[in-house]
Amino acid sequence: MKDLEKILSELEGKIKTIEKESDLNNLRVEYLGKKGCITALSSKIGELPPEERKTFGASLNETKNKATELIDAKKKELDGKALSEKLTREDIDVTLPALKVPVGAPNILENIIEEVEDVFMSMGYDVVDGPEIEEDRYNFELLNIPKGHPARDAQDTFYIEDETILLRSQTSPVQARTMLAAGGNTPIRMICPGKTYRRDADDATHSHQFMQIEGLLVDKDISLSDLKGTFDVIAKRLFGDDVETRFRPSYYQFTEPSVETDISCFVCKGKGCSLCKNTGWITVSGAGMVHPNVLRDCGYDPKVWSGFAFGFGAERLAMLKYGINDIRTFYQTDLRESSTFDRKDV
Ligand code: DAH
Repeated sequence: MKDLEKILSELEGKIKTIEKESDLNNLRVEYLGKKGCITALSSKIGELPPEERKTFGASLNETKNKATELIDAKKKELDGKALSEKLTREDIDVTLPALKVPVGAPNILENIIEEVEDVFMSMGYDVVDGPEIEEDRYNFELLNIPKGHPARDAQDTFYIEDETILLRSQTSPVQARTMLAAGGNTPIRMICPGKTYRRDADDATHSHQFMQIEGLLVDKDISLSDLKGTFDVIAKRLFGDDVETRFRPSYYQFTEPSVETDISCFVCKGKGCSLCKNTGWITVSGAGMVHPNVLRDCGYDPKVWSGFAFGFGAERLAMLKYGINDIRTFYQTDLRESSTFDRKDV
C-alpha cells in the first residue's frame, strides 16, 4: 500500500517538470504501459495472503485511475498551450489591404438583351434565332425590297457570293423565316436578338457589326394601337414608369404604315437637354404594321391576318440606359468598362 502512495506522489512530481508531449508519453509507458511499474504490481497480487488481495486490488485500481487522470490532465494542459502558441504565431493582420482579384462581368449588351427578352417572354413571346449568313431572298426580297430597289442602298451590305449570299444587314429576315416556318395558319409572337453587319466605317455612332432585336406579332385583328400598347410596356420596363411614348410617321419597305417609336427623355423629363437634343424625345426603334406583301409572300393571307413588327438597336438601348456615348465601347472588351456595370444596375 505504501508503495502505491509512493508511486503516485513520485508520478505527480515528475509530471510537474514535464514540458513536452513526448516526455509525457514516455512517462505514461513507464507507469501504465505493459511493463510499467503499476502494471507490474498487479502480477504481485498472487503473492499476497488471500485476505489482503481484495483491498490491495482495489487500491491498485484506484492508483491506476488516478495516474491516468494525472497524465490526461497534463496532456490537456500541454495541448492547450500548444494551441495558444500556434494562434499567437499565426496572428493575422486584418489591417493589411487585401489582394485584388480581377473578376469579369456580364457584358452590358447581353444584360440589356436579356432584359428585353424577359419583358417580351412575360408577354408570351418566343425568343428565336436566325442565321447571320443569310440569303438575299430573306434579307431583302421577302421583305418587299426587290432587286434594284433604292431601299437596299440604305443598308450597305456585305455580300459574300454574287448578290445572293450576304451577312444579314438587319434581323428582319427572321420575320420572313418565322412566318414561312409557321405555315400561314397560326398566330406568331417572337423576338429575335442577334448580330447584324453593314459596310459602315466605325466611329462613335457606327459599327460594322451591331446587335438588333427584331420583333414580330401576327394574329387576327391586330392594329397599330396593339403596337403602341406593347411599346409602352417595354419602354416603361426599360426606362421607368414615368416615361411617355409616341409614334412619328416613318418609312420602311416592309411595314405600312411605318413609325419611329419615341420615349420622353428620362433625363430631363421632356424639358429638353443634350441627350434628347432639346426635343424632349428620344427615338428608340423603328416599327410598323407588317406590309400586306410581306404577309402574303410569307404565306399569311393579309385579308385574314395582320401584324406588327419592330426593330431595336441593342447598342442604342444600352447607350441610352447607361449613358455610354461611343458604340465602340461594346467591342473593345475593356474590362474596366464592362465591370463598371454590375448586373444589379440593370
Ligand atoms: N430592320 C430595320 C433597320 O435595320 C429596323 C426595323 C424597322 C425593323 C421597322 C422592323 C420594323 O421590324 O418594322 O433599320
